[in-house]
Amino acid sequence: MKKIFKKFFSKDRINLISENLSSKDLYVLEIGVHKGDFSKQLAHNLDPKKLILVDPWIAYDDDIYTNSWYGNSSISNQVIQDQYFLNIKNYFENEIRLETVEIHRKTSDDFFDQNQLKFDLIYIDGNHLFDFVKRDISNSLNFIKKNGIIVLDDYDVVGWWNDGITKAVDFFQKKNLIQIIRKHNLFDYHNQCIIKKI
Ligand SMILES: C[S@@+](CC[C@H](N)C(=O)[O-])C[C@H]1O[C@@H](n2cnc3c(N)ncnc32)[C@H](O)[C@@H]1O
Repeated sequence: MKKIFKKFFSKDRINLISENLSSKDLYVLEIGVHKGDFSKQLAHNLDPKKLILVDPWIAYDDDIYTNSWYGNSSISNQVIQDQYFLNIKNYFENEIRLETVEIHRKTSDDFFDQNQLKFDLIYIDGNHLFDFVKRDISNSLNFIKKNGIIVLDDYDVVGWWNDGITKAVDFFQKKNLIQIIRKHNLFDYHNQCIIKKI
């Protein structure tokens, strides 16, 4: 049944985000880059003034990450993570030189500790566990511009992360700190959640 809804009502995440951004000269932050597939879409579709990409590219040993894209497993190890980082750095070589793209090989916590910029769009797609997403949202609320949007991927997906993304959004909504602008449902199928700071 879900497959039928997905076929008829699915929406591309980059289009969804574009529709919800009004300003030009965008400052964009992506937390969790992996191979950089979505980073390329952000760069080409939004043409941001500054695109900041944050990922530690670490293959974690803890059992909880065995089924994730960043565990030490049959599909991921440190050599593979190092290669992802080098590939995306090479891909954006010109933009890095022009200072329109920055790549920070560190956790989002470490990035926010040093950051001084404010963003129009923060795309949260890093560590999916509840405590990490909660910190990513909390930090993002401090660095989002007045009319900026924070978008979370894998909203309403349970996964190995035990629905940590949905639970973290619920946490901030209950505290009345965020407003949900648009969220995934069967008729608006994208597994994204767009929030704004209240
Ligand atoms: C689902 S992937 C990102 C996919 C990417 N946004 C895309 O759409 O193509 C999650 C990424 O989060 C990264 N990650 C894990 N822990 C992180 C952390 N604490 N801070 C930032 N990124 C993290 C992983 O290394 C992995 O590359």
